[in-house]
This record gives sequence, structure tokens and C-alpha cells, in this order.
Amino acid sequence: MKNRIKIIKSPEKLTNIIKELKKRGKSVGFVPTMGALHNGHFSLIKKARKENDIVVVSIFVNPTQFGPNEDYKNYPRTFKEDKENCLNLGVDIIFAPTAEKLYPEGYKTFVEVKDLSDILCGKFRPGHFKGVATIVLKLFNIVQPDTAYFGLKDYQQFVIINKMVKDLNLNIKIKGVSTVREKDGLALSSRNKYLNEQERKEALLLYKSLKSAEQLIKYENVKNSDVIKKNIKNILLSGNIIKNKDIDYIAIVDAHSLAELKKIKGDVLIALAVHLGKARLIDNIVIRKVK
Ligand code: PAJ
Repeated sequence: MKNRIKIIKSPEKLTNIIKELKKRGKSVGFVPTMGALHNGHFSLIKKARKENDIVVVSIFVNPTQFGPNEDYKNYPRTFKEDKENCLNLGVDIIFAPTAEKLYPEGYKTFVEVKDLSDILCGKFRPGHFKGVATIVLKLFNIVQPDTAYFGLKDYQQFVIINKMVKDLNLNIKIKGVSTVREKDGLALSSRNKYLNEQERKEALLLYKSLKSAEQLIKYENVKNSDVIKKNIKNILLSGNIIKNKDIDYIAIVDAHSLAELKKIKGDVLIALAVHLGKARLIDNIVIRKVK
């Protein structure tokens, strides 16, 4: 049965509602998003729905995590569909504040998770993770969730949020949810909307290159990460569109510390970022317990 869904714009109002719910002993699960919701987001929401009395989804395209030449203005905004989908998934509250409300004139405070924010995507998107950590902390303070859900598609974001929660003694449980993919392997992303038909086909090379790396590590016992990276690069460049300059990075790092691995061992994150047409796509896989 469909429930009624509350759409709240005011941070103060939401905090008050949550306070009341908590007084009544309700557990609160929280899924922060920028909207344009797809099956990836739905999988986080479904998990939150299973595990909590109350589910809050925030929809907010956060200006502070976009660089000056990035797609803040053009980022897809599909509130009507998002609302319908949230309703069908049994979400209790959508928090949809305005940028003016969260960053009023004279706003000055930012949170930075050092070092972890400067590598991988952070190297190519300066300030991005500062914007992410800041908005997530603000949202946590407004929503006061017991548990918050993040996708492993944005693996670095997941690690950074965990670190922030630990370092700042936040009393919130963070849960990671596996990457949801199209049938052909492409990781779902709101930015896939930017791809034309030809680019959409070429985008398959990302996951293909990661799966090939997994094969080499798991079944051919390759330990040298440079060899794996070269293999990934060759696959990325094997189509018609992606060129060397389009590849931001191909990284092989420890899945916990994000420290670079020369030799493949332990829990290994293989991550990449590639520009394809108007989109910047990221993808990753984690291979666990490599001996
Ligand atoms: P957004 O890109 O909308 O993603 C919201 C959440 O959905 C993130 O935790 C992301 O990792 C997860 N997600 C996206 N695609 C996914 C997929 N294919 N499979 C599984 N999970 C997926 O990430 C953000 O927004 C923002 O940075 C935010 C945390 C909301 C702060 O503004």
C-alpha cells in the first residue's frame, strides 16, 4: 500500500519532525541524493526501507561539490518522477531544500577530510570532496539519522564519509551498497543521460576493462599493478571515441586506505574515471583477499 509522503523544504521543520519521531522510538534511515533517481538510488532506498522505521531521502543538487566548469547548471533535475518513485518505494520523507537555504549569503564553514580528498577523483576535481563532506555533515545534522546509506559506485566518497564520521565522532552508522549496473554492465549514473547512442556503446569499455583486470588477478595470478593498468588502458583505448587525454586516471589502491599498490595484495580497489562526450564516468571494482 502506498503511504503518504512528506515533502519538506525547511531544515528546521525536518529536524523538529525527526525529533518527535525519535521520541517515539522510531529508527531513521537516510539516503542522501542529488535526484534524477535511478535503480542505483532505489537499491539504497530499498535497503533503508527494510532496516528502518522511517526513511528520509534528500534531493539536493549541491553547488559546493561542482567545479566552476562542471555540470551544476545542466545536472538533470527530475523532481516529479523522483517523488513518484520515492512514493512507490515507501519513502516517508523527501527533504528538498533550496541552495539559498543551505548556503545563505555569508556562508563560511567547510569540512575537509585531508589527503583522502586529494587523490583519485579529488586530483581532477579540486574542492569536490570538501563540498561533499560539508553537505553530508550538514544533512546529517539536519536529519539526525541512525543509519545512512551510500553507494560503492562512488567508492572514494564512501571512504571519505566513513573517515569523517569516525574523526568527528558522529553517532551514525554508514552502510555501503553494491553498484547497480545495466544488464550489459554499465554502472547506473544520473550522468549516463548525457551519452549519445555511440558513446553509450563505448561506455561498456569501462566495466569490460575492470572485469578483464579481475580475470588477470584472480585467474592468471598477475601481481604487478602496472601490468594490470596497461591492460585496462588498452581496453579503454580499443574503441573509437576514448583517447588517452580522456582518461583522468586508472588506479589500483588498497580498498581501505586508498594507498597506491605496486603489488596486488589484500583488498584491492581498481578505479577509473574517463571523459566520454559530455559525461565524466567513474567505475570501480573491489577484489578481496588477494593472497
Ligand atoms: P548521487 O550521485 O545522486 O548519488 C546518491 C547515492 O547513490 C550515492 O551514495 C551514490 O554512490 C549512490 N549511487 C549512484 N549510482 C549508483 C549505482 N549505480 N549503484 C549503487 N549506488 C549508486 O553521491 C551523491 O549524489 C552526492 O555526492 C551526495 C552524497 C548526495 C552529496 O551531495
